[in-house]
Amino acid sequence: MLKNKTVLLGVTGSIAAYKIANLARMLKKLHCNVHVLMTQNATQFINPVTFETLTGNKCLIDTFDRNFQYSVEHVALAKQADVVMIAPASANVIGKIANGIADDMLTTTVMACPCKKIISPAMNHNMYHNPIVQDNLAKLERFGYEIIKPDQGMLANGDMGDGRMPEESVLLEYILKEIAFAKDLTGKKILVTAGATQESIDPVRFITNHSTGKMGFAIAKAAIYRGADVTLIAGHTEVKPPMFVHLIHVKSAQDMFEAVTAISNQQDIIIMTAAVADFTPAEPAEQKIKKSGDHSEIRLKRTQDILKYLGEHKPDQQFLCGFSMETENMLENSRKKLQSKHCDMICANSLTQEGAGFGTDTNILTIITMQSEIALPMLSKEEIAHKILDQIMQ
Ligand code: CTP
Repeated sequence: MLKNKTVLLGVTGSIAAYKIANLARMLKKLHCNVHVLMTQNATQFINPVTFETLTGNKCLIDTFDRNFQYSVEHVALAKQADVVMIAPASANVIGKIANGIADDMLTTTVMACPCKKIISPAMNHNMYHNPIVQDNLAKLERFGYEIIKPDQGMLANGDMGDGRMPEESVLLEYILKEIAFAKDLTGKKILVTAGATQESIDPVRFITNHSTGKMGFAIAKAAIYRGADVTLIAGHTEVKPPMFVHLIHVKSAQDMFEAVTAISNQQDIIIMTAAVADFTPAEPAEQKIKKSGDHSEIRLKRTQDILKYLGEHKPDQQFLCGFSMETENMLENSRKKLQSKHCDMICANSLTQEGAGFGTDTNILTIITMQSEIALPMLSKEEIAHKILDQIMQ
């Protein structure tokens, strides 16, 4: 994923420095070229040899080592970098960078880097909330640096508060968002629905389906990586939603209808992967329970067809994509849905094929538009997400 990309990791003196060894390893696994720059203080917490072994590159520490090759190297590195991440970033280094001080290898290189810089502050709660530190962070943000909000929890000295550096997987997501894909969706507003809706029968039971939300989450994540502004409206799901989306949780089909239609007109692209329950109790759950407590006969009514409503009220430039889950006559039924719901695209998947449908990490899809039908082989949901976005962009 990160082939031919170069990431500079700037490590400063904080106990969280040990986590960066794992981040470096994760980046290497994605075929990234990783260079680590450490402050002298950072070497008190983790040995440079650890980073050198993991990255295969010399760990750069100090410009006062007046070695000619090094001083050239830091400028060359600065030019080569696709992104710089300073994590953990101490109050001291944040202060230096914000005020144009470049007195060691790390701060000098960061100053020479034209690429995006991401900073993950890690320090004691009171230090983090010190107005001088906050002022320095605000200044860096004004100059285009991205600041990762620290986590809440127990800090290294046993205090509770915010100031903890987030986990390596979170730091990795910031890097991937920045450099993993070309930004062909920049400026596009995309709404994705995902997961299963739930229709309450009474305070205990509900009607739902087997959707896990994986496909919709994969599309939302791929769109984020490609630069889109993504809103994710999610019904019930056990899967962790992707970072960087505007996340709205809903329960019933009616909730989803209201959440979707409140913002649908502002969207460039809408992708409805949600498995919306087709039926809901005809009477409100509480009323039913009060009346008799007898559930032997529950009268059902159809839920609002959200996709159809969107198709019928579609602004001119909007692209509308639906999903279709079929157990038989997949192509024929899906083509009908394309027409009846006034969509620009339907992604059809069969529930009977192995490796496709609910809960799996793979899917087998046919992308149907008025002009074409593209049958994709079995692919991971991540790969399929990109194929769908490629097709929409075409
Ligand atoms: N959909 C919707 N609102 C509903 C039902 C479905 O918006 N009340 C959307 C789904 O999100 C999906 C598409 O319509 O994008 C097709 O859903 P699917 O369940 O395959 O078809 P249905 O229209 O529900 O018809 P059937 O269940 O009879 O196949």
